[in-house]
Amino acid sequence: MSKPRIGVLTSGGDCPGLNAVIRGVVLAAEKLGWEVLGFLDGFEGLLPPGNYKSLGRRDTAGIMPRGGTIIGTTNRGHFVAKVGAGERTEVAEKVIADAREVLKTLRVDGLIIVGGDGSMATAQQLQDAGINCIGVPKTIDNDLEATAMTFGFDSAVATVMDALDRLHTTATSHKRIMVLEVMGRHAGWIALHGGVAGGAHIILIPEIPFDYEKIAAAIQARADRGNLSAIVVVAEGAKPRDGQVVMRHCDEGEDRYGGIGLVVAGEIAARTGKETRCTVLGHLQRGGTPTTLDRILGTRFGVKAVKLIREKKFGSMVSYQNYQVRHVPIADAVNRLRLVPPDGELVQTARDVDISFGD
Ligand code: F6P
Repeated sequence: MSKPRIGVLTSGGDCPGLNAVIRGVVLAAEKLGWEVLGFLDGFEGLLPPGNYKSLGRRDTAGIMPRGGTIIGTTNRGHFVAKVGAGERTEVAEKVIADAREVLKTLRVDGLIIVGGDGSMATAQQLQDAGINCIGVPKTIDNDLEATAMTFGFDSAVATVMDALDRLHTTATSHKRIMVLEVMGRHAGWIALHGGVAGGAHIILIPEIPFDYEKIAAAIQARADRGNLSAIVVVAEGAKPRDGQVVMRHCDEGEDRYGGIGLVVAGEIAARTGKETRCTVLGHLQRGGTPTTLDRILGTRFGVKAVKLIREKKFGSMVSYQNYQVRHVPIADAVNRLRLVPPDGELVQTARDVDISFGD
């Protein structure tokens, strides 16, 4: 009799820790005597005739510290089920039918989908169409519902913290205002955690619209106490009260977030007369080696996904709750985002250590 066979794919924007998940899946599956097929470049690998490679213990050697994903990913293509915050689109029936056929021909009993909310929306559609799916939550933005944490987030925050540590020294030397733009289109988790860990003085997040006068006042208050430099962290999706988010129109025809850092720096300079500089951290937050936490979380998530297949809990997503790795219906994670509660404990703690949110 042939061995049971499962599939794994990574989808959406990459992040540190994806390879830890893949390694966890492959090693846990091998222990059960199962074969693993890694579908290449996200869901696109499911298209006929199937673009995949067999993954065994040997393929996992040395991948734990590696950023990115050894099986590739994309946030474009035929399986996009999310076109914006809260806006869903249906994956074409023919595309799903083709993928189902490929999985059937390859005798894949269960498919592990590692991705963010868009990928989970696709996973749900595949599951509804009779494909056995298990979701694994991933995103540096940490904005996925139904899990207290996604892997990739901790590594992104570590990169922000490191950048802030560096900006502090140059800011103090020159008595400048340094603005750091970080990722986070709808949720300010990266800005909030990175800002608190990196000793920022002002943190601007999408959930708390800001006022330029309040930011200038916070900088002036520091100056009155003799602190002539200041560090501002701004999430790419932050916006002024009564203002708009800053988007760039790209050649590919889509509008992308980004640019608020420069705008904020300009407004601060105009209002305070202080020398101001802007750094955009961009995809540095998505690359590089995962932190300890993301390696462990990724491993736990990968192993749990295999267990869920063994238990035939299809339609479930691995979820982190109260320090335990559990599972929830994939449906719980789609159609809404987990945002920073503006009156939550961490925002309050930040305020208590004199961090301004510009509100
Ligand atoms: O979802 C993660 C994220 O890093 C966002 O914060 C960011 O806006 C986006 O991905 C960028 O994605 P890409 O450049 O890969 O299209």
